[in-house]
Amino acid sequence: MTRALSTPPVIASGVLSGSPQPVLPAGGGLLMRPWEPADAPVFLSAYQDEELRRWHTRRPSTGTQVLEWFDAYRQDWEREKGGHWAITRDGTEVLGRIALRGLDFDDCVADVAYWVLPAARGAGVASRALSALSVWALDEIGLHRLELDHSTRNPASCGVAVKCGYALEGTKRSAALHDDGRHDMHLHARVRGV
Ligand SMILES: CC(C)(COP(=O)(O)OP(=O)(O)OC[C@H]1O[C@@H](n2cnc3c(N)ncnc32)[C@H](O)[C@@H]1OP(=O)(O)O)[C@@H](O)C(=O)NCCC(=O)NCCS
Repeated sequence: MTRALSTPPVIASGVLSGSPQPVLPAGGGLLMRPWEPADAPVFLSAYQDEELRRWHTRRPSTGTQVLEWFDAYRQDWEREKGGHWAITRDGTEVLGRIALRGLDFDDCVADVAYWVLPAARGAGVASRALSALSVWALDEIGLHRLELDHSTRNPASCGVAVKCGYALEGTKRSAALHDDGRHDMHLHARVRGV
């Protein structure tokens, strides 16, 4: 198909799908790796946590559904729409989740999302994973801007964003529906070279 954009291509197609999804080190023994079918029980269990349920309204309800999600994650990589990683200790024990979503190679933007299991919180897991993913996405893949949003009532997520260089750009009023109603959302972004 003939390209209709007036701006030159910055990221060549195939930069993701041309290789297997990488395992990314995040320091301190953390490894981010693709999800495996054996992770389904721990992934499902994460969504039983009340704190996580406060902020994540899209939740799997069965192990079978988790496996469907993992399959969708694999397709995201193949279609260059996103990447989804388990944050693990040395590649084995799952500690959390991190994802790059909504990849747009025309504007070179994407957004990020994460959670950490209750027992692993407060030890720098989210911030180390997000820092490593950001460097990879900006410097190796060539994205220019990564966005992150969270409810204004979620100070922990705000702390992760700020610690990882995602400047607060503003508040999206009444932007997301949670179980207890609509929330204002902070928009943060990390921009390459800024
Ligand atoms: C938000 C969440 C991912 C943080 O993960 P974590 O691994 O505990 O975060 P880190 O240890 O890397 O913390 C990084 C920074 O965030 C802030 N932070 C983390 N937990 C916090 C808390 N409970 N209260 C206030 N600030 C907090 C701090 O500024 C911290 O930096 P510091 O340790 O130098 O003080 C985790 O609490 C979680 O999964 N919560 C439930 C789901 C969720 O909120 N997902 C994000 C939706 S947008």
